[in-house]
Amino acid sequence: MVTLITGASGLLGATLAPYLKGLGYTVLMHGKSAGNDVSCDLTDKSATRAMLEETRPNIVVNLVALTNVDKCEESPHDAYLLNVRTVENLVAGMRGRVDPYLIQISTDQVYDSIGPSPEDEIRLTNTYALTKYAGELAAARMPSTILRTNFFGHSALPGRKSFSDWLLESLRNGDPISVFTDVVVNPLALETLSAMIGRVIERRVEGVFNLGSRGAMSKADFAFELARIYGLSIQNVRRGSVGDMNLRAYRPRDMSMDCSRFEAAFDVELPTLQNEICELKRNTHAVT
Ligand SMILES: NC(=O)c1ccc[n+]([C@@H]2O[C@H](COP(=O)([O-])OP(=O)(O)OC[C@H]3O[C@@H](n4cnc5c(N)ncnc54)[C@H](OP(=O)(O)O)[C@@H]3O)[C@@H](O)[C@H]2O)c1
Repeated sequence: MVTLITGASGLLGATLAPYLKGLGYTVLMHGKSAGNDVSCDLTDKSATRAMLEETRPNIVVNLVALTNVDKCEESPHDAYLLNVRTVENLVAGMRGRVDPYLIQISTDQVYDSIGPSPEDEIRLTNTYALTKYAGELAAARMPSTILRTNFFGHSALPGRKSFSDWLLESLRNGDPISVFTDVVVNPLALETLSAMIGRVIERRVEGVFNLGSRGAMSKADFAFELARIYGLSIQNVRRGSVGDMNLRAYRPRDMSMDCSRFEAAFDVELPTLQNEICELKRNTHAVT
């Protein structure tokens, strides 16, 4: 059985691909640029079809996206191309195959209500969220599992930092930083998210699912908790508001997700965010 990870050369793919290989899956890593098992511009329909004909995957895990929220706002067409058209091309390319299956990775940015949002409480407030949601609609045209998620952890990708990488680096350097009290999230650690994607491949329950940790935190509380667990000084850390930043795109305030549908469908209890932060430190020791 061949699992093709499209967008495997990105932040999530750098952890997910080795994890799935470790489980014994035959994994093909795709990126736009050369240096991957397969490279192809997925905005190009015929190139996408040819790539799928050549690789003949049983499962596609799609991670391709324009993840820079401000760039999406600046160029909605680029956001459409990368967050929607790529999915449309994958779906078209898999049409007619025996037992095709797509796992589409989406985002918690499709929410902005008070308290953990269930899957039907969509509130689209920026171009990134709008185009990721449109990508979900494209994915839903074939047998698929759509995972709305967010993640942090040690980036395995040289030159690319996750939110927690940035925080740890700033805390260690004593850089003055402002952390937001008014942005609430419940992300998973990269390793846990990879394990949950492994579980999705195994159980193949179709539908749309929120996938995050239990017990959301503001980004500010996350930063202070991270500093406490790592024993780092918070002297130069200031609590602030995302509204004070001059950001091009609006940032949803409460992206916390109610993940009970995922827990029931995949028969798993998701970890608490507090525990995920503790695991991050344990994983640091494991890799150093
Ligand atoms: N990053 C986050 O904090 C976050 C949070 C929540 C959800 N997500 C979702 O998680 C998924 C993975 O995010 P990520 O941060 O790992 O993404 P990423 O690091 O930005 O990686 C994007 C991937 O897309 C590929 N790509 C870009 N343009 C392409 C094109 N025209 N054709 C084919 N491939 C193209 C890139 O290939 P090259 O490397 O060759 O350019 C790269 O492999 C995305 O769906 C994202 O929406 C991310």
